Amino acid sequence: MAVLGITATLLGWVAILLLVSIWKQVHSSWNLPPGPFPLPIIGNLFQLELSNIPKSFTRLAERFGPVFTLYLGWRRVVVVHGYKAVREVLLDYKNEFSGRGELAVFQEHKDRGESNSQARWSTTTTRTVMGASRRALATYGTDNHSNSIRMNSGDGLCMQRIAQFLVEEGKEGVGRPFDPTLVLGGGPCNVIADILLRRRFPYDDDTCLRLMRAFNENFYLLSTPWLQFYNSFADYLRYLPGSHRKLMKNVSEIKKYALERVKEHHQSLDPKCPRDFTDCLLVEMEKEKHSPEPLYTLDSIAVTVADLFFAGTETTSTTLRYGLLILMKYPEIEEKLHEEIDRVIGPSRIPAIKDRLEMPYMDAVVHEIQRFIDLVPSNLSHEATRDVMFRGYVIPKGTVIIPTLTSLLYDSQEFPDPEKFKPEHFLNENGKFKYSDYFKPFSAGKRVCVGEGLARMELFLFLSAILQHFNLKSLVDPKDIDLSPAAVGFGSIPPHYKLCVIPRS
Ligand code: HEM
Repeated sequence: MAVLGITATLLGWVAILLLVSIWKQVHSSWNLPPGPFPLPIIGNLFQLELSNIPKSFTRLAERFGPVFTLYLGWRRVVVVHGYKAVREVLLDYKNEFSGRGELAVFQEHKDRGESNSQARWSTTTTRTVMGASRRALATYGTDNHSNSIRMNSGDGLCMQRIAQFLVEEGKEGVGRPFDPTLVLGGGPCNVIADILLRRRFPYDDDTCLRLMRAFNENFYLLSTPWLQFYNSFADYLRYLPGSHRKLMKNVSEIKKYALERVKEHHQSLDPKCPRDFTDCLLVEMEKEKHSPEPLYTLDSIAVTVADLFFAGTETTSTTLRYGLLILMKYPEIEEKLHEEIDRVIGPSRIPAIKDRLEMPYMDAVVHEIQRFIDLVPSNLSHEATRDVMFRGYVIPKGTVIIPTLTSLLYDSQEFPDPEKFKPEHFLNENGKFKYSDYFKPFSAGKRVCVGEGLARMELFLFLSAILQHFNLKSLVDPKDIDLSPAAVGFGSIPPHYKLCVIPRS
C-alpha cells in the first residue's frame, strides 16, 4: 500500500514537472518581451505586492527593462515603464494599443447587461460615444457660441459659481474639525451634473450625497489588495463573498440613477434644442432609430452618463482632498499661495481661468500636487488591437498593455527628489511656470483622459477659491502629517483626515 502511495506521488510529481516544462517551452517560443517565469494558473502572483502593484512594476522594470511581460492569473499583460517606452506606446503606436483592457469586476456587470465603464469603453459603441464626450467636454467653459449644447460662458462661469458654493459650504464648517470628502466632492459633482444633466444639487441633497459616497467607496475599493487579487482570479472568486460585491452594488445604484435621468430626458426631449450632454446623445439615438444595429440605446447612454459622472467627480475631488492635506503639511507653501492670490485676484473677486497666466506659483503647485499624488499610477489598461511588432517583440492581439504613469511622474532625472513635494519641479529660475513633457497624469494619445481640460480648470479655480477665503488648519502638528496613501491600486487614495478652516477676512 505504502509503495503504491509513493509511486502515485512520484508519478504526480513527474507529471507536474512535465507540464511546467511544456508550459515553459510554449511560453519561451513566443517572441514576447522578457519577464519573470509564470506558474500555471497563478501566473506571476508571487512577484507582485498586492498592496502596491505600481511599486512591484518599478522593481520588475529594474530587473527586466522598460518593457516586460507578466501573467495576472491567465491574463497576459505587457507593462511599459519609463518616459521613452510609455510615450512610444501612447503616441507612436496610438492605434495599435488603443484598445481598452477590461477589469473583471466590471466585466461581470457587462455580462449581466448592467453598467460597466471599463468594459464598455472597449466597444465600438462606446468609442463613438467617448468621441462625442471628448468634443462636448472640450467645449465646456471655452465655447461661447455653441447653441447645440448649453456649455456656459467663456470664462468657466458655471464653474466659478460652483466654486462660490464650495466656499459658502466651507463657511458652514468654520471653527470645527470636519472631514472634507463630501464638501470637496460637491464642486466637481455639480460641474459634471450640470454638463451631463443640467442639474445642480444643493450640498445637503440626499441623492447627491449617496452618489458621492458610492463614487468615493468604489475608488477606494478598486485600490485595495483584494480587488487587485479579484481582478486576476475573478473566475474562481466570483461567487465568494467579499468587497467586490459591495463595489458592484454601488455600480448598479449609480447606473440605476443615470438610467432614470436618461429616461426622463427622453420623454421631454426637443431634438432641435438639446439642453445638455444627455440630450445630445439622445438626439443621436433618435437619428439612428431605424438602423438595424443602433449604436446608441437608452442603456448605453445611461452607462456613458454613469461613467462620466463617476470619473468626473471622484478624480478631481480626490486630487483636491489630497492637495489640501499636502498644503497643511507645508504651511510655507500655503502662505505663498495666499500672497499670490491676494496680489492677482484680491479678496473678493471670484477667481477666473485667465488668472492662471499671472499665477505661476499656483499653477506649479497644482501640477506638483498631481505629480506627487500620482492619482492613477498604472493608468487605465490598454489592449493591443492587433498583433503588433514593438521594439523587436511580437505582442499578440488582445494582450493587456499597462503604460505606467508613475514611471513618468516619479522620473528622478526630470524631477529631482521625486519623493519630495516641491513646486519648484514646475518653476524655472525666474519663478515662471516650467512645462515638463513627463507630466502626464491624464495619460496621452488616443485614449487620453476625456476630462483633462475640465479637471485642470476645476483644480485651479476650486483651489484658488478655497485659499482666497480660508487658512487651512491641521489638527496635528504639520510635521506629523503622513502623506502616504491609504491604499494604492487602481488609484492612489489619500489618508483619511479632518481639518479646520479659518476665514481670512
Ligand atoms: C485629476 C483629474 C483626472 C485624472 C488624473 C484623470 C486621469 C485619467 C487617466 C489616466 C485616464 C486613462 C487614459 C488612458 O487610458 O490612456 C483617464 C480616462 C478617462 N477619464 Fe479622466 N482623469 C481626471 C479627470 C476626469 C474628469 C473630470 C472626467 C470627466 C469629465 C474624466 C473622464 C474620463 C473618461 C471618460 C476616461 C476614459 C476615456 C476613454 O476610454 O477613451 N476624467 N482619466
